[in-house]
Parts: sequence; C-alpha cells; structure tokens
Amino acid sequence: MPSTKFAGIGFYVPEQVVTNKDLTKYMDTSDDWIRERSGIEERRYGKKHEETPTTMAAAAAKIACERAGITVEEIDFIVFATLSPDYYFPGCGVLLQRELGITNTEIGALDIRNQCSGFIYGLSVADQFIKSGMYKNILLVGAEMHSMGLDFTTRGRNVAVLFGDGAGAVVLQPTEEEGKGVLTTHLHSDGTHAEELSLLSPGSHGGYHFEDKDKFGFPTEEEAPLGEIFVYDNLLENKTYYPYMDGQLVFKKAVTKFPEVIMEALAKTGYETTDIDMLVPHQANLRIAQFVQRTLKLPDEKVYNNIMKYGNTTAASIPIALCEAWEQGKVKEGDLVCLAAFGSGFTWGSALIRW
Ligand code: COA
Repeated sequence: MPSTKFAGIGFYVPEQVVTNKDLTKYMDTSDDWIRERSGIEERRYGKKHEETPTTMAAAAAKIACERAGITVEEIDFIVFATLSPDYYFPGCGVLLQRELGITNTEIGALDIRNQCSGFIYGLSVADQFIKSGMYKNILLVGAEMHSMGLDFTTRGRNVAVLFGDGAGAVVLQPTEEEGKGVLTTHLHSDGTHAEELSLLSPGSHGGYHFEDKDKFGFPTEEEAPLGEIFVYDNLLENKTYYPYMDGQLVFKKAVTKFPEVIMEALAKTGYETTDIDMLVPHQANLRIAQFVQRTLKLPDEKVYNNIMKYGNTTAASIPIALCEAWEQGKVKEGDLVCLAAFGSGFTWGSALIRW
C-alpha cells in the first residue's frame, strides 16, 4: 500500500496588518492584555469584497501545485476545511475548483467542518483516499476569513482579538518510499460542549433563519412580499451570528487533549517525544502551545509557532505554520513532523509525518 507524502506546500496571508493597538480603536482592550494572554502581536485581515477563503485558498494552492510540479488540472480531489466559508452553501470546495479554473468534472470536492481541527481531519480523510489508491493528487486546504464575522465591540473582545485571516494548502501524493509520508493520524470528538465554542446562526435550531420580529412565525407572502428582509429577533438580540467562546474551558481542555493525542500518535508508531524533530501545533494561543511544549519537554527549536504574526487562523493555521517552517529550513527531508490540533466541537487530532 502506498503512503501519503506532502508533495507541495504553500500559504497566503492578506497584506493588511492589524496590530493589537489598532484594535483598541474599536474595543476596550490593550496590547499588553492580548500579548500576555495569547502571545498575539498582530494579525492579517483580507480586503472585503475582494478576498474570501476561496480566493486566499487559490493563492496558496497555486504555490503548493507549483512546488509539487503539477498543474491545477492534475488535481483529482479537493478537500477544503473552513469555518468561515464564502457561502452557507455550496461549500468552498467547488468554489475553489472554479477559482483555479479547473474544468475537469471527474474530480470530487469535499468540505470539512471541523474548525481548528479541520486540517488534520482533512489530512486523515485524504490519507485514506491516497492509501486506497483512489486519488493521486489531492489538494488539501485550510482557509479562513474571520475578519468578516467578528464582534469588534468590547462585548466580543475575548474572541475578536484572537483571530486572523489566511490560507494554507498542500498537495498530497502517493509514495512507495519505505517509512515516508503520513505515518498515522488520530481523530477525536466530544460533543458534550458543542456550544462552548460556536457560532450558532444562521442555523436550523432557531426554526427559521429569518422571522417576523413581532409575530414569531414565518410571514405569509402577503405579509412579507418576496425580497423584503425580515430578521430573526433572537439572532439580533443575542448576536448569535458572532462566535461565542468559553475561553477558560477551551484552554483547560486544550492543554490536556493536545499532549494526549500527540502521545497517542507516538505510541502507535513506537516513537518517543525525543524523536520528534518538529511539532507544529494548531496556533490557538501561544500559552496553550507553550504549555504543551513544557508537558512534552520539547526544546524551543522543536516547536514552530507563528501566532504572534497571524493570530489564530483556525483551519489554516497548521498549513501556514508548516509551510513557513519548511521555507525556513526548519522542516527537512527525513524529519519526524508532528501536527496536532484542538478546537470547537470539541474535536481534536494529531498526525505524524516522516517528511
Ligand atoms: N482585552 C482586555 N480585557 C479582556 C479581553 C480583551 N481582549 N477579553 C477579555 N477581557 C477581560 C474579561 O472581560 C475579564 O474581565 P473581568 O475580570 O473584569 O471580568 C478578564 O479580561 C479576564 O477574562 P478571562 O476570560 O477570564 O481571561 P482569560 O485569562 O481566560 O483569557 C483567553 C482569555 C480567551 C485569552 C483565554 O481564555 C484563552 O486563551 N482561552 C483559549 C482560547 C483559544 O485558544 N481559542 C481558540 C480556539 S481553539
């Protein structure tokens, strides 16, 4: 059976840099608070009306394809992970196909909704397809445009300061080289705390997305001529179209689950923490990554963090960080690379790769 190798990798972040100080114009926060609690110094925001997760993903994908030595027409499957898609539906997979100008309709496009763990979930799915021989050039991307949907008032400050926009992409191919490529992937979920890190609306839980504010019923055609917009008052009053997070619960769970799932991958493959050449954790919060690093007793040069520059880019954070580490020569041929993530769901996962 072949294994899955990373044949090409690329990332894209928007030009606009937004510093912690910039955010103090909109909400009661400070550079000190944000740095101390999260390690973040700045993040990137995409150009509204021009950039979307799809356009950013396309930019990253073109670099990944070029580095893999393939044209976009050679891609036979797309896996797109995002929590901030261009549309409610269809998903970003087909939008990326169109954006890249792929005319081949023999390919499939899959959308992954696992938020911070999206890239690892996507990698695990793609790995099965490659190992089974079904596909030969899978484009896996994680891309987010958080800046279009954050609450930039003081009410939303515990979430808004953490997130940034960007995209990362990899081309996955089969390899017959012994011991090379993806060695193992591990996925977990626990729906008990589903709403503790969530964005609830629009969603079917509310009955209707748009309701007559006074009547609590979907307006008839006479009451609401087509095209007139009625707003669901619960959505407006509770602002459930903004992300909500119980930060302390997420922190507590993350610092336990990250090491656990990394140890699971090591145990499965017979490696020790000392065998890891580079750990690329999902960039949730620098304090979480440092906690995990201390727990696993890894030296600084074996953990790659860039949340300071980009904030938390959710599904994009691992491929962006992995790509930067690779570009800087910190991930080299033959290295044992560990990826791990934890996030909304809760879902978490890990992957071990012989680069
Ligand atoms: N600026 C200034 N003050 C802020 C703030 C901000 N951006 N956000 C929250 N605060 C305030 C709170 O209102 C609270 O004030 P109070 O004591 O007067 O009530 C105080 O800071 C402490 O809030 P708390 O939520 O207890 O802070 P915390 O130490 O838990 O840090 C997080 C908040 C979000 C940084 C932290 O919980 C965290 O990192 N959690 C994990 C989040 C994460 O990684 N999410 C990514 C998903 S994978």
